[in-house]
Amino acid sequence: MKHVLLAYYSHAGHTSRIARTIAKTIEEAGHKCEMVEMMEIVREGIDWDQYDTVIVGTPIVYGTYNKIVWEFCSAFKDKLDALPNSFFNVTVVARSPEKATPFGNRYLQKFIRRSAWKPKDLKCFAGKVDYPNWNWFETLMIQIIMRMTDGPTDRTQSVDFTDYEDVKRYALHCLTLGEPLQEIGDIRID
Ligand SMILES: Cc1cc2nc3c(=O)[nH]c(=O)nc-3n(C[C@H](O)[C@H](O)[C@H](O)COP(=O)(O)O)c2cc1C
Repeated sequence: MKHVLLAYYSHAGHTSRIARTIAKTIEEAGHKCEMVEMMEIVREGIDWDQYDTVIVGTPIVYGTYNKIVWEFCSAFKDKLDALPNSFFNVTVVARSPEKATPFGNRYLQKFIRRSAWKPKDLKCFAGKVDYPNWNWFETLMIQIIMRMTDGPTDRTQSVDFTDYEDVKRYALHCLTLGEPLQEIGDIRID
């Protein structure tokens, strides 16, 4: 049985929902998965020795990652490197398939360039346009971006672009991290 640490940051709750889907999928497969906010780990520490895989997940807000994400990845670089690991981001640009790949997602490229920790495995998820739950300023900013990129602009609507079946596949894939490749066609590079 594996014990997975899922360290996450969520600005408005949607990445938490994705993380819960990952944790539930891992648990249903007979393993343990603990979701912990990056802020808590940075402030209080964690017993890294109990985990044998780590997943790190975060949304993009205003074109960047929250300060706590950079702090977490820098403070725990060695701990992260010592475990099979994966990093995922959540963005609305990833609603276009070409921007949902590690090569096509500029925010993921930015992370790889700037982060002290270089993840061994990468994933992009499309997030949620959640006008009813955002404040007026957030709503206005995203409406402007959505207008420019042909996305939803009706501020009375939430549109969830996340493919939860893909989230579940990713969760199961994370259980195979660190194991020898078995099939030709697996694109992981160890
Ligand atoms: C204030 C704000 C700024 C955002 N900026 C971006 C952005 O620059 N690029 C992008 O692709 N998505 C952006 N998003 C979309 C979020 O990444 C998406 O809604 C995600 O699901 C949010 O996850 P969370 O609820 O866990 O914070 C933004 C969302 C908010 C609320």
